[in-house]
Amino acid sequence: MNTVDLNWLRGEVKKTLEVNRKIGYAQWCDAEFDYTCPSNVTYPFQWFWDSCFHVIAGSHIDPHMAKQELRSLLINQHDDGFVSHITFWEREKYEAEVDTYAVAFKTERLTDEMQPPLLAQAISAVYEADGDLEFVKEILPATIRFFDWLDRVRVDPVDGLVRVFHPDETGLDHSPKFDELMEVGGPDLEDFSSAWYRLAAKYETVNRDPKKMKELDHFVVADVMTNVIYVENLDVLARLCELTGDTETAQVLVLRRSVALAGLESWCWNEEHGLYFDIAGRDRHQVQVNTFTALMPLLLTDIPEDRICRLIQHLLDPEEYWTPFPVPSVPVNHPNFAPSTSGGILVWRGPSWINSNWYLAIGLLRHGRKDLAQRIADKSVEAIRLSGFREYYNPFTGEGHGAPGFGWSTVVLDLCEKLDAATFGEPT
Ligand code: GLC
Repeated sequence: MNTVDLNWLRGEVKKTLEVNRKIGYAQWCDAEFDYTCPSNVTYPFQWFWDSCFHVIAGSHIDPHMAKQELRSLLINQHDDGFVSHITFWEREKYEAEVDTYAVAFKTERLTDEMQPPLLAQAISAVYEADGDLEFVKEILPATIRFFDWLDRVRVDPVDGLVRVFHPDETGLDHSPKFDELMEVGGPDLEDFSSAWYRLAAKYETVNRDPKKMKELDHFVVADVMTNVIYVENLDVLARLCELTGDTETAQVLVLRRSVALAGLESWCWNEEHGLYFDIAGRDRHQVQVNTFTALMPLLLTDIPEDRICRLIQHLLDPEEYWTPFPVPSVPVNHPNFAPSTSGGILVWRGPSWINSNWYLAIGLLRHGRKDLAQRIADKSVEAIRLSGFREYYNPFTGEGHGAPGFGWSTVVLDLCEKLDAATFGEPT
């Protein structure tokens, strides 16, 4: 039984997205912008994957607003197809904030980092909301160019998996799975910041040329979550191409997907642990640290059933992920698990996040575990009732922490709508 009051939730989502919306004109690129920032308090700019989540939630409220967000995201696409992970719209207004982000960008307005590529899912959400095929046709060429950039510049030709060159590119900034690779010297924010600066300094020596950054081999990681999102989005993008009659591109994308999926299965799966681990470096060694990303392949329907069962076992273990307010970003039994925040504003080291819950719950729904998906949705909504839309939540108490009025936490609405639609039928 669906326990969520959808009308109430829609109202709360609408309010939050509207408060975070920023509309204006930017002289530096001679363009109008209309996007939703992650949080007026700490994140006033436009972030790539945040925007995609905002679009997925916003499609249920105002498809026009969602389309504007996507247009703003792509308006400064680089000539080679790359899309920056942050666009610093109105940077001058927020001078104090910018300093904290000065880790990894060489241009003033656009970073040279990527974020998880859920762009196709965002477009698909808009299309599902209002069936506007003209919009799909308008936005698809830039989207295909972005995926071609990923394929050309970031995908390893041997295993078909996307490489990131900085933890920030996964969106999982301080995840403990990167501690060793980054040679983080201590438990505080400044230890992480100096590790980030050390890496940025190395990249400066090669002027951030991706080929050379890869050759340096300091942080070359196939993150499981980024790659699951990549695989999923190749599938969604192929379907969008079919829709517009571009069968040829659809076939190319389907092929890329099957190569990446095979790479995930053969390089990332660990039979002994029953988890998927990132691979790193030229030797493609597994980074054997258990975090929620090890469960992310739950999202994919063509993963062998025995592997899905093992992932679900981990998920349901109270010593790992099955806390009162699931799903913690790091298992409870990890030595560095921190349920709220740790070392200042370190993120992804224990609390539950709504965007990762969205992905995991959709995966469970796809594998016929509506009961578990519903539990995750119910507890997410309960946490939101308790503290509003926050950046992350304590997995034991549901108490919210981090940025208030946090945009992507509204994506819980999409999950609840999906669960509601699946009430009388088999999940798709
Ligand atoms: C934090 C998150 C990152 C997100 C950004 C803006 O850095 O870890 O994933 O994109 O905030 O919300």
